[in-house]
Amino acid sequence: MAARTVAVVLAGGLGERMGAGRPKQLIEVGGRPILAHAVAAFDAHPGIDEVLVVMAAGHLREAGVIAAPFRSVTGVVEGGATRTASTVAALRVLEQHPGDARVLFHDAARPFVEAPVIDRVLAALDGHDAVAVGVPSPDTIVVVEDGVVASMPPRETMSRFQTPQGFRLGTLRKAYELALADPALRATDDCGIVHRYLPDVPIRVVEGSERNLKVTQPLDAVVAEHLATEDPP
Ligand code: CTP
Ligand code: MG
Repeated sequence: MAARTVAVVLAGGLGERMGAGRPKQLIEVGGRPILAHAVAAFDAHPGIDEVLVVMAAGHLREAGVIAAPFRSVTGVVEGGATRTASTVAALRVLEQHPGDARVLFHDAARPFVEAPVIDRVLAALDGHDAVAVGVPSPDTIVVVEDGVVASMPPRETMSRFQTPQGFRLGTLRKAYELALADPALRATDDCGIVHRYLPDVPIRVVEGSERNLKVTQPLDAVVAEHLATEDPP
């Protein structure tokens, strides 16, 4: 199979912090589900050949209905108990793709990812096997241990990670092979897996966007509704 560019939209979570009684990616903002916004961003992007949706067990039918109008969606698959397990479920579906295929993992809970952010990830994958999206932190971030400040990294070196995170599929596969063989594996994001298990692979960080927020708790849903209905900048 020729190398394709696949976007995996991770919607396998249950949204416990949101407390909406159903996965937060099913909540509507601006008249359509958060998941639909996220899928639409990749479906509309000319650099993406295929979109795969990973959904929480018990909500596959709802995800199928939401995904149906999007031509580039090739599947809705059942996720796992952790984000890592949901990523592994996607990697299994992508087994037939060659190692040089590009794959972008995106949080379904980020409905407002914009085309320029996706552009930057794809462009950076020409020179790197792993790419993250970051934004500067307006707050000082410190390391706290046992309730006291252990260290204060300079604020200008700090970046808040967003998604999508992009990879050459072969590199991500190798990182996950090592991770899954490690009994001490703790849940982390996909760049975290590469950083830990393939420390020699540089992870390029490109600029994200403040609009690309992750809907996590009830206040975020209020902000998301506002962003969904305002005019684009
Ligand atoms: N995710 C996933 N599979 C899981 C857990 C999370 O695909 N088992 C996805 C979520 O659906 C979300 C993204 O990973 O799009 C980021 O996770 P998070 O914001 O933590 O979402 P939830 O896990 O759903 O929320 P919470 O942690 O509050 O339960
Ligand atoms: Mg979670």
